[in-house]
Amino acid sequence: MAKIAFAGDHAGYELKKHLMDRAVSMGYEVKDFGTFSEDSCDYPDYAHPAAEAVESGDCDFGIAMCGTGNGIQMTLNKHQGIRAALCWQPELAVLAKEHNNANILVLPARFITREMADKIMDAYLEAKFEGGRHQRRIDKIPVK
Ligand code: RB5
Repeated sequence: MAKIAFAGDHAGYELKKHLMDRAVSMGYEVKDFGTFSEDSCDYPDYAHPAAEAVESGDCDFGIAMCGTGNGIQMTLNKHQGIRAALCWQPELAVLAKEHNNANILVLPARFITREMADKIMDAYLEAKFEGGRHQRRIDKIPVK
């Protein structure tokens, strides 16, 4: 079963815990890159190691979150091998996988319910990359 890198700041701490437990109950292996409490912290400290784990293949893909999702997504996408997609409804997660082969799903923890997060995560996990013209496009994303 795939191994998922999880990362988030204090604003995403509770949601990360919930989604990690859920992923484990679904049979996934998980690696928690922190943060490990609700104490105020800086999302790049957790985003960079998680991005490196996905880039290196140590983890197959990732799920990350902060309050808005923006800060952690910006950080993750600094890594050339990362395509992190901020999704606040399931349809966005489906398209992020089908068209962009997003390798990190990003959630805005303060703007979605736990139930919505579950639906988005399921949509992301079930969707398949379509390849073809989308592969050509994502091949052009990295800065050489
Ligand atoms: C933390 O208060 C908040 O700024 C952070 O979680 C995130 O929303 C930043 O983009």
